[in-house]
Amino acid sequence: MTNTAYVTTPIYYPSGKPHLGSAYTSIACDVWARFQRLAGKDTYFLTGTDEHGLKIQRKAEELGKTPQEYVDEMSAPFRELSDVLNLSNDDFIRTTESRHKEAAQELWRRLEANGYIYKSTYSGWYCVSDEAYYEEDELVEGKAPSGHPVEWMEEESYFFKLSAFEEKLLKLYADQPSFVQPDSRRNEVISFVKSGLQDISISRTTFNWGVPVPGDDKHVMYVWIDALTNYISALGWPNGEKMKYWPGVNVVGKDILRFHAVYWPAMLMGADIDIPQKIFAHGWWTSEGKKMSKSFGNVVDPIALMDEFGRDQVRYFLFKEVPFGNDGDFSKERFINRINSELANDLGNVFQRVLSMVHKNCGAQVPTLQELTDEDSAFLTKCRELPKKVIPLMDSFAFNKSLDEIWVVIGEANRYMDAQKPWEIKKENPEKMAHVLRVLMESFCYFSVLVQPFMPESSAKLQSQIGWSDKKLSDLTNDLNLKDGNALPKPEGVFPRIEKEEAAA
Ligand code: MSP
Repeated sequence: MTNTAYVTTPIYYPSGKPHLGSAYTSIACDVWARFQRLAGKDTYFLTGTDEHGLKIQRKAEELGKTPQEYVDEMSAPFRELSDVLNLSNDDFIRTTESRHKEAAQELWRRLEANGYIYKSTYSGWYCVSDEAYYEEDELVEGKAPSGHPVEWMEEESYFFKLSAFEEKLLKLYADQPSFVQPDSRRNEVISFVKSGLQDISISRTTFNWGVPVPGDDKHVMYVWIDALTNYISALGWPNGEKMKYWPGVNVVGKDILRFHAVYWPAMLMGADIDIPQKIFAHGWWTSEGKKMSKSFGNVVDPIALMDEFGRDQVRYFLFKEVPFGNDGDFSKERFINRINSELANDLGNVFQRVLSMVHKNCGAQVPTLQELTDEDSAFLTKCRELPKKVIPLMDSFAFNKSLDEIWVVIGEANRYMDAQKPWEIKKENPEKMAHVLRVLMESFCYFSVLVQPFMPESSAKLQSQIGWSDKKLSDLTNDLNLKDGNALPKPEGVFPRIEKEEAAA
């Protein structure tokens, strides 16, 4: 088992503002990266912006700016997402940086040296909005499948011999079934490749906002060839020391899976570079049952939502509501219900009730245990088994199942508390009350650490209430986690309830 982990978001086109889509992928990668760190892995997390191509050049022209001025301005809000969404990324790559351009050119040289690049003429349909070429039979009523317009292009172009990789790719999907995940997406990719791969045009001459083709600067590279390279250019490929993190996991939206699961491994194989460990494709969000669009007035702004209800609350909801990989629908009502019932009631209340009692009745110190009863042991065993259940789920991006497992045991904590009724035995048996509170506090160790990847700020608050900070999975023992008599801070609520009238206003 290697002790490194590497995860990447797609690099975003900075031609629009960050939206729920970009926030979703970025937070997913952040959750995964934080979990890997929690599990003790040397972890690297990359995001960035995809700044070349005709789409960017045209937008800049419309605004009377140079493309460089335009991307300098527009990439800033994406860089700031780290603060806004609380992302723990280690680097932010821009494809206009020289470290990136040099690597993209070196990859091209290697593909050319290996005989996978040739010059010819391209004629066909191009969709600027998708930055993608389409075959005649892929068009839907004269438009790209995404609904965006296509334009006819005919020009001298370099081609990548994608057709040479058909067999190798099919072998890869067969030999490494988890290379493309989820399985439904993997099947899509396999049938696409089985239907036959055409060589792809990988350079343009009719505009110049791109990485110059080595040795022929009349051409710029096709933006996707340039963009995909970011996952290794950021590690300093070919010789950078950070290449120790490669191969990594590329997380992408389902709309850009073909580029990642077909073109990208073919490019890497063609240049004798290791292919990624995994390509994970997530689904798309709609809002209140409809595709998000300005005209429906249903566009979900993740940043406004976080400002109103809290960053961790939004991060939690996105991954609890929908299995990662499936499409999902955002509903404000369901959002508020989950926050109130799962965060404020289930998790927040048990902490608040137990810690208030400890504060009032146990001298604000970690109370002492007595001998464990069968009920105590059964409950603590469930807590101790939790990390083992959650690790494989988190590793495989089954975020909602991990949260489900954690919430099952949080439910047990609530049931244990209700059954033991520490408030009723306060007078006649204060030792027993202290014991029950301590058993519950032991369970809090597991909860407060395991929710950290999803809710880093709340996790820190929960941990500080039991006198902990920055704990890792390896700090969760199969024995007692807290020390008798340790002083505890005054408890404070971590998850406020959202009043529905207030939210409606
Ligand atoms: N620049 C390319 C990626 C190059 S990676 C080498 C690109 N950029 S993008 O800004 O258009 O899209 C970024 C991501 O946002 C995609 O993964 C896409 O799936 C995701 N989303 C955009 N809208 C979305 C939703 N409504 N829901 C979920 N994700 C969606 O493509």
